[in-house]
Amino acid sequence: MEKISRTKISELLKREDFGTMVNVKGWVRTKRGSKQVSFIAMNDGSTINNVQIVVDIANFDEEKLKLITTGACLSVNGVLTESVGSGQKAEVLAKEIEILGTCDNTYPLQKKGHSMEFLREIAHLRPRTNTFGAVFRIRHNMAIAIHKFFHEKGFFYFHTPIITASDCEGAGQMFQVTTMNLYDLKKDENGSINYSGDFFGKQASLTVSGQLEGELAATALGAIYTFGPTFRAENSNTPRHLAEFWMIEPEVAFNDIYDNMELAEEFIKYCVKWALDNCYDDVKFLNDMFDKELINRLKGVLDGSFVRLAYTEGIKILEDAVAKGHKFEFPVYWGVDLASEHERYLVEEHFKRPVILTDYPKEIKAFYMKQNEDGKTVRAMDVLFPKIGEIIGGSEREADYDKLLTRIKELNIPMKDMWWYLDTRKFGSCPHSGFGLGFERLLLFVTGMSNIRDVIPFPRTPNNAEF
Ligand code: 4AD
Ligand code: MG
Repeated sequence: MEKISRTKISELLKREDFGTMVNVKGWVRTKRGSKQVSFIAMNDGSTINNVQIVVDIANFDEEKLKLITTGACLSVNGVLTESVGSGQKAEVLAKEIEILGTCDNTYPLQKKGHSMEFLREIAHLRPRTNTFGAVFRIRHNMAIAIHKFFHEKGFFYFHTPIITASDCEGAGQMFQVTTMNLYDLKKDENGSINYSGDFFGKQASLTVSGQLEGELAATALGAIYTFGPTFRAENSNTPRHLAEFWMIEPEVAFNDIYDNMELAEEFIKYCVKWALDNCYDDVKFLNDMFDKELINRLKGVLDGSFVRLAYTEGIKILEDAVAKGHKFEFPVYWGVDLASEHERYLVEEHFKRPVILTDYPKEIKAFYMKQNEDGKTVRAMDVLFPKIGEIIGGSEREADYDKLLTRIKELNIPMKDMWWYLDTRKFGSCPHSGFGLGFERLLLFVTGMSNIRDVIPFPRTPNNAEF
């Protein structure tokens, strides 16, 4: 076959130099036609749109054409032609076809309309569907938007460790990392495991958050962000939890909780706008296929500012709702850790806008949050979103050495793991704030998908580490 340099379908569909010889490569989505002519819809992943390949059957070997089945991989040389019926401006009139890979009828993606559950079982092939192509292109674009946002604001991308000996959130939901022989674990007289012989000489785990190390960096470089995988061994089988997820954690010296809220709102609006501006074909596809309100919801977040409300006020609204007969599955009272149904009530029913809830009871938040004067609440902020609930969690940090130390002791956090963190408060302490955005929660919002397992290529959840 004549060597012509390949044009991606995303580029090809924009071209108007009809009559030119081109080469396209990709996977067959469908083939239809008559005795004289075949129409092959081909996709190469560069765009949601297929290119139509028109095959004049008389010019090709019949046996070879039989091998062009759904899922087969082709390289096609042909003439770029103005299209009349394909829904696109351009199509390709095939001159030469090479079959790079055949695909027999055991290919599971023959028919359209598979359930999301079934597609999760074939997560190795699901990127070839329109839906997952769209989701993963959007995923890439959101990662770029995030780096661009922070880079343009002068934040430094800081790499925090994945293996750690400290439990940032203090929730004990960590996966252990060990090279010890689990079949021959030595315990001391108290029944405790002696980690001194383990790889790191102490108990180590996969990180639940890069924040603590992020704070070290922010109190030196001024403004940083992390963007990496985080791990939580929480046994919650919900459509919003993963055991392995990606988190973005900005941390800024001298920012108070109000600056923090402003940053969070600006950041998330930037990401949503980026999706509308740069991924419109994919977002539109998902809007039309799954969720007719998606684009409206995305635009809705951009208009107007987020509601800012203290936790105590939020509880009053929820209690009022209960008094008026609204049924929640979980109880509402001051001190409760809000469930997603409560968060969504505030956002979707009451305010009809994103809400930043602040000043939570200290008992339900992590040790590092700045304590309020009332002795009961901390300067926490959760950003609550329609359909999602909590999308961001953050706070102003406790900058006072003594207060922080007292809290660490109250919560029985092992001091030997925390000395380096406390040093930031000992040596030139400063007010500072930050937050964490769950990358997959953002993607749930932007794609309108209803299960977090469908916005990450290979989800890790309880009882599932396939692929
Ligand atoms: O609220 P979280 O636990 O806060 C932290 O980890 C802080 N260290 C962040 C900070 O202040 N730097 O988690 C932050 C966000 C949540 O709002 C949620 O979007 C996401 O991370 N998240 C999860 N996403 C998917 N699966 C899980 N199991 C998640 N747990 C938290
Ligand atoms: Mg949280």
